[in-house]
Amino acid sequence: MLHLEGIESVILEQRSREYVEKRVRAGVIEFGIANLLEEVGAGERMRRQGLVHRGIEFRYDHGAHRIPLSELADGRSYTVYGQQEVVKDLIALRVAQGAPLYFDAEVTSIEGVTTNSPTVEATLDGELLRVHADFVAGCDGSFGASHRALPEGAFRRFERVYPFSWLGILAEAPPATEELIYARHENGFALYSMRSPSISRLYLGVRPDDSLEEWPDDRIWDELSERLSTDERPELNRGPILERGITSMRSVVIEPMRFGRLFLAGDAAHIVPPTGAKGMNLALGDVRVLYEAVRNFYQKDDESLLDSYSPTCLERVWRAEEFSNYMTQMLHPNYEDDFENGVQRARLRQAAETREAATVLSRNYVDLNSLS
Ligand code: DHB
Repeated sequence: MLHLEGIESVILEQRSREYVEKRVRAGVIEFGIANLLEEVGAGERMRRQGLVHRGIEFRYDHGAHRIPLSELADGRSYTVYGQQEVVKDLIALRVAQGAPLYFDAEVTSIEGVTTNSPTVEATLDGELLRVHADFVAGCDGSFGASHRALPEGAFRRFERVYPFSWLGILAEAPPATEELIYARHENGFALYSMRSPSISRLYLGVRPDDSLEEWPDDRIWDELSERLSTDERPELNRGPILERGITSMRSVVIEPMRFGRLFLAGDAAHIVPPTGAKGMNLALGDVRVLYEAVRNFYQKDDESLLDSYSPTCLERVWRAEEFSNYMTQMLHPNYEDDFENGVQRARLRQAAETREAATVLSRNYVDLNSLS
């Protein structure tokens, strides 16, 4: 976005190009975020290969309930397209622009963020690279160098850790249904998603200390079948598992998202649990706000949007935290607390069976980042 406005930037990526292009993440792109990718010239393949969806299904008490998202959210839809495919498209665009992008660059220090000329130092193939800039965008996740550059006492951190993890698999199996399925079963959560007409992406809620060794292929498929089946639709398509991983679940917010000339974006500032797939959407929502603020600074000599960056983002971030927390709590049975389970089931029935609750859910699902 900055490049399109003639504003120079340098991107330092800690990992290799191969690593970031292969790292499997979620695959749901919101309506407004898909439009953003298209506007900046990174949406061509997404529009061609992405799957446009207009609903989701909830399964509970052995039944299936479709939420007609598009109908309840003014015709808006979402696109199923893997996050690493978006990453590939953004890298290809950057490389085609001939703009600086360094892989395997380990940032060792970020200095001078309370002055007008911060400096970032990185090592690259054993050489020192020093970047002098007007601004630093900390888009380097929750363990990145931007975090370490924040002085103790300059920010607050809000956190919730959930008592379960997700085991995710990518399987060579044609999706058995056209839309995503979120299931709440006594044994735990399950999610049916996909990447293409021949590749399924599935998730199982597991205990936080479970390891992949405890989950051989048959156990994964049996458990998915049990949690996702209904009286009418008893079976899933099985196939070879191409990739697997376990992800822990937490919610984190850092306030404020700005410290001097250092602006935090994406996971550096906030983490959402995966239920609802808001992580990447939220990150792209942040950089859209930051881009406008930086553009106004150069083109209009106006710092007001830089000053409002953090409060503007945090309103949207907390909305996404609320939504991700709501989806997570509603769909993951608590193994110890049956009062909580009663409340969850009432909430799920309300979401699936009343138009008012389904409308709020739909708007948040398809286009939360537009805050509409
Ligand atoms: C996917 C991931 C999610 O977290 C979700 O809520 C829906 C879909 C996915 O990877 O396809």
